[in-house]
Amino acid sequence: MTDVTVAKEDAAPVGDLVVLKNVNKHFGALHVLQDIDLTIARGEVVVVIGPSGSGKSTLCRTINRLETIDSGEITIDGRPLPAEGKELARLRADVGMVFQSFNLFAHKTVLENVTLGQVKVRKADKKAAEEKARALLDRVGVGAQADKFPAQLSGGQQQRVAIARALAMDPKVMLFDEPTSALDPEMINEVLEVMQQLARDGMTMIVVTHEMGFARSAANRVVFMADGRIVEEAAPEQFFSNPRSDRAKDFLSKILHH
Ligand SMILES: Nc1ncnc2c1ncn2[C@@H]1O[C@H](COP(=O)(O)OP(=O)(O)O)[C@@H](O)[C@H]1O
Ligand SMILES: [Mg+2]
Repeated sequence: MTDVTVAKEDAAPVGDLVVLKNVNKHFGALHVLQDIDLTIARGEVVVVIGPSGSGKSTLCRTINRLETIDSGEITIDGRPLPAEGKELARLRADVGMVFQSFNLFAHKTVLENVTLGQVKVRKADKKAAEEKARALLDRVGVGAQADKFPAQLSGGQQQRVAIARALAMDPKVMLFDEPTSALDPEMINEVLEVMQQLARDGMTMIVVTHEMGFARSAANRVVFMADGRIVEEAAPEQFFSNPRSDRAKDFLSKILHH
């Protein structure tokens, strides 16, 4: 049997897994990330929320180095982010990323999508990689779609394949950037449920989402961003019932009462 779940008791020792220290980034004149300090512990689930344009996606993209930073430091599991080459490919595998748009390889089957990285980056044997891919596809509920192409699947199914593809690399941390924002309403829950299960299994997760139900039930911590800064962070109950900053109060009143 392929072991694809990470039980809490098997997880590596507690400690800081993702650490951002005084991170700054500009896009031209725009100071998009301003003195970001953020530490994510192993097994922790952090939900990042905030108004559009506040820097949430950029934050995610710096963590797997899709974007460089101007100053500060980012470490994953105690190591600074590699700049290029094989090391960078390995980092990208360690940091699974699921985007709003599903980003599957359109000309590869679902099974190939979940097998490819294992063989190329992790140097897994093809047969073992396929076995693991099938187990993961079963786990996210799309095992029956393995031989189809992405376009033949619904958005919710494609997003679950994208999650399986990231998990196939045995990532240390999973980043989700508004994974349900592009989905039809009836497909949102099937993706959130997979994410809930992942959280229960002990995966370290950074999740940008406006799904407050998910934040309340799965997050250990909510980080609220505005204008490139972390304005507030708190446990979900505390954040939603008693936000401290005016920016957070204003934001919550807009998303909770529309
Ligand atoms: N590649 C880029 N070049 C220039 N500006 C960008 C780029 N990516 C994002 N921005 C700008 O940076 C700000 C933050 O964007 P983003 O991180 O996508 O915010 P969020 O995900 O919170 O909506 C926005 O003003 C956006 O227009
Ligand atoms: Mg965004």
